[in-house]
Amino acid sequence: MDEQKLREVLARNLALEKEVERLREREATLEKICKKAIDELENSKKHLSRELHDELGQAMTSILLQLKMLQYEQDIEVIHDRIGGLRYLTQQTIEDVRRLAMNLRPAVLENLGLIAALQWYIDDYCRYSGIKVELRAPRVKEPFPSEIETVVYRVVQESLTNVLRHAEASQVQITLEVSDNELRLQIKDNGKGMTQVDRKKGLGLLGMEERIKLAKGEFKINSHLGQGTEIIISLPIYK
Ligand SMILES: Nc1ncnc2c1ncn2[C@@H]1O[C@H](COP(=O)(O)OP(=O)(O)OP(=O)(O)O)[C@@H](O)[C@H]1O
Ligand SMILES: [Mg+2]
Repeated sequence: MDEQKLREVLARNLALEKEVERLREREATLEKICKKAIDELENSKKHLSRELHDELGQAMTSILLQLKMLQYEQDIEVIHDRIGGLRYLTQQTIEDVRRLAMNLRPAVLENLGLIAALQWYIDDYCRYSGIKVELRAPRVKEPFPSEIETVVYRVVQESLTNVLRHAEASQVQITLEVSDNELRLQIKDNGKGMTQVDRKKGLGLLGMEERIKLAKGEFKINSHLGQGTEIIISLPIYK
């Protein structure tokens, strides 16, 4: 084999080794993302079961006991008072159920639609974080395919959680634009920004990127230290 050919073979080998290394890294990342998703699912199930048991179970038992007592009560005044108490407790329980349903977030998408569900999440977020978030979705016609709604909702959730945890921002602007066959979402904060190295620190951004890839969309981060962070995704919409 002449020297030229040998060099070519070596170069090809090197390129192959690099590709294998890249794929290994990607596999390891996907494995971590998958494990995280399973852990999150388990935790939310635990939380739900605790709430169902402690809050709802408790309230329903209390309602049942009061109803039993009421069954044998003769005094009309007492009956009146107890019914008032029962109504209050039932109302609270309905609120609890509503809150629980809301906490199972993506389920709210079906009931409220994407924009209202996002607004609900954002209002709650603003209240506990003190960060001002503006959602702009001019002339957006709903509904969207449900996979798209879930992706958008999850991206907003992860991005806002990141802003609260890392950005030291006071404001976030979220813009949703839809054309015939594409949805574009931009989430922009006025925080401290991040470096390329920062990006690889966790699994949130990587998970987001994988989700977008699965939906055949595009994912981009524009961020520089001291200049805030902007996340832009676009997703094709097949109707
Ligand atoms: N809006 C932001 N402003 C500044 N830095 C950010 C922002 N979002 C992410 N970062 C940086 O990028 C890193 C990676 O974010 P990512 O969401 O992937 O992981 P994480 O939030 O650290 O952990 P988790 O896996 O729980 O999401 C963060 O640790 C942080 O340093
Ligand atoms: Mg994160």
